[in-house]
Amino acid sequence: MNIRKLKFYHFRNYDKASFSFDENTIHVLQGKNAQGKTNIVEGIYFLSLLRSFRTNKLAHLVKHGEASFVIEADVESKGRIEELKVAVSDSKKQLFRFNDPVAKYSSFVGMVNAILFCPDDMTLFSDAPAARRKFIDMELIKLSKSYTATLSHYQKLLKERNQALKQPYVDRSLLDVYTRQMIQDQKIIISQRHRFLDELMEKVRTLYPFFSDGQERMEARYETFVSIEEDDLQQAMRACYEKTLERDLQYKNTQIGVHKDDFVFLLDGVPLVEAASQGQKRSVLLALKLGLAQIVYEKGGQYPILLLDDVFSELDESRRRKLIAMLPETMQIFITSAEPIPKSWFERPVKFYEIENGKIKEDLHE
Ligand SMILES: Nc1ncnc2c1ncn2[C@@H]1O[C@H](COP(=O)(O)OP(=O)(O)O)[C@@H](O)[C@H]1O
Ligand SMILES: [Mg+2]
Repeated sequence: MNIRKLKFYHFRNYDKASFSFDENTIHVLQGKNAQGKTNIVEGIYFLSLLRSFRTNKLAHLVKHGEASFVIEADVESKGRIEELKVAVSDSKKQLFRFNDPVAKYSSFVGMVNAILFCPDDMTLFSDAPAARRKFIDMELIKLSKSYTATLSHYQKLLKERNQALKQPYVDRSLLDVYTRQMIQDQKIIISQRHRFLDELMEKVRTLYPFFSDGQERMEARYETFVSIEEDDLQQAMRACYEKTLERDLQYKNTQIGVHKDDFVFLLDGVPLVEAASQGQKRSVLLALKLGLAQIVYEKGGQYPILLLDDVFSELDESRRRKLIAMLPETMQIFITSAEPIPKSWFERPVKFYEIENGKIKEDLHE
């Protein structure tokens, strides 16, 4: 997958900007701090997921003093060009494909498949479980429509069950109806999360040694409320819900379920949050992100777009070179960096851009 053209209108510090990018090429966005490098990456990410990775407020993305912003892109996917557009005003998103309105967010999300690695990702291992669920869910949502539908159905049921628990007189039979339906959904969610984590770790185990000096074994543990080894998972879940019912009633809130799942990443059996160095965490993250890209490629027949925001500054020279060498040749990549990166490090098509105060200058090295 490749972004061929990208246009911003009143997005962040860009007034009216137009970029052309090449297929399967590394695009290095250079420039001093606070010039608009990450804003470009953010715009691409926004097209992919209709949300930013830096803010939850759409208003922050609108150029100061303006009322709305537009992002447009021509995206090549399996040889065909998609014309996509998002217009945001009054905190409402309008989506277009070939200038026709797209009604459902879910049919737009994932049309651009982008994988991001940014400095904030470093907190993934120490963050609350919700961050790790989001990490896994984001990918599953892009990969599987059935997962997306099941997860949002589950979330709706959870809300309704919690409302039922808050009533002065709790209707236990209604509660039971919700529980049964939630168990149906969770059977699907648990098995998909479990399978996905297994697949991802298989990739990560081969990738991690390239970034690490040590020989540590990389593993992940899926933690959910029920033992997934049970033959009759549904029956086991029912037993868990029966056991927790009193606590649910006491706290007026559903105490167990996949909304509390966690994914624990370990090196030599020790959770990363406990003992890993910054360097080890970074290596694990790189392996995780490239592993995700590999899975997307195997499932969908093309690599996602890779966005590496400020990743280079944290790596030593040998890791920077190693990373560049490991990036698949048929992957379009965007790298932001405040420090210049020598052209000689790349043995593949690469383009350099200088970003200055919301303006882009192309091809410094030509
Ligand atoms: N909504 C906005 N309107 C105008 N300028 C903005 C907006 N949001 C951020 N900026 C400006 O964008 C710049 C930061 O851009 P960013 O892409 O994060 O920089 P960097 O090049 O360091 O990655 C800052 O100068 C900031 O003031
Ligand atoms: Mg930046």
